[in-house]
Amino acid sequence: QIDWKVEDEGLKGFPHFMLKEIYDQPETVRNACRGRMIVSEGVSVLGGLQSKMEEIKNLRKLIIVSCGTSYHAGLIGRYIFENLTDLNIEVELASEFRYRRLRLDETTAVLAISQSGETIDTLAAIREARRKGALTIGLVNVVGSTIARETDCGVYCHAGPEIGVASTKIFVSQLVILNLMALLIGRYQSVSLNEGVAVIKALQNLPDQISDILAQASQLEELAKTYQKYPNCLFIGRQMHTAVALEGALKLKEISYIHAEGYAAGEMKHGPISLIDENFPTIALLSNDASYDKMINNIQEIRARSGPVFAITYTGDAQAEKVADDIFRVPETHELLQPILSVIPLQLFAYYCARFRGTEIDKPRNLAKSVTVE
Ligand code: G6P
Repeated sequence: QIDWKVEDEGLKGFPHFMLKEIYDQPETVRNACRGRMIVSEGVSVLGGLQSKMEEIKNLRKLIIVSCGTSYHAGLIGRYIFENLTDLNIEVELASEFRYRRLRLDETTAVLAISQSGETIDTLAAIREARRKGALTIGLVNVVGSTIARETDCGVYCHAGPEIGVASTKIFVSQLVILNLMALLIGRYQSVSLNEGVAVIKALQNLPDQISDILAQASQLEELAKTYQKYPNCLFIGRQMHTAVALEGALKLKEISYIHAEGYAAGEMKHGPISLIDENFPTIALLSNDASYDKMINNIQEIRARSGPVFAITYTGDAQAEKVADDIFRVPETHELLQPILSVIPLQLFAYYCARFRGTEIDKPRNLAKSVTVE
């Protein structure tokens, strides 16, 4: 007798879908980019936006709406679009946006980001935007889903099914495609050939860099063994890494049930620092940009109050290991892609914390993969 279930086959030898999906990510990035980049011209090619390209070229404002992890992708998307296009960008939770008094016209587009393409609030937001005359764009994984059908144009992730309730590979896919979308628009605006080529070359290197991180998973498993004993965890970052902090906290809380909060590090003195003591650890996200020194300062302030600090930093950083209790290094990439590499250790960290705590990783209590009712 052979005990065999379809799900076992789909797991490809991994104990959980979440872990399998984390390991899918080099391929997820390749799939998101396949046939969509022309290196020599520093441009992207997105067939799903082609029919509306004239309107897209004339846009002045983009409003990104989404929920959950897709909302965190939107928050990072704000920086990507601000850097690569001349558009004004707003990012809003779909559940809030849909009830606002909106002034939308044909120079504004609303971009809905959704893995499932069925999230009720995101769908309602898109319907409201269309009613008010805005162009609607979808960034969706599930082909033929309601949001994909009801938007004027859009781009698919082509990432295959994501089974784990906690989204991992789709987040990464969304970030890749936000870069491609911004590049497409930006190259009609002020982005230079060289800037475009730099993003594309960095995207090409990303799958191998993700594999390098995955090869060090045992280091994160070791750290998770220590940190999962704490009942709370604070995640901090700045700018794009504020959203990575929010996503790291969401991953940890949803699957391990450890209370976790993500914060902009600049807000530490406005509240969270009062939580810090030897039993309240912080995960700090550092990147090689203008925010670096301020992050080091944040870590020193936390350590001065006996708070344990685990820093996620980049390969060439020499300072973090002197100030933090633990560090994990990720390779360096283009500034706009760095969140993709910083989030992967956080996914693995959350996964291993949950495993040590014996929770139901792929189907956390009270959560659904797709929220289709209010
Ligand atoms: C649920 C899922 C999350 C997801 C969110 C938005 O909360 O558990 O993983 O990020 O919905 O879903 P969507 O399908 O719109 O991206």
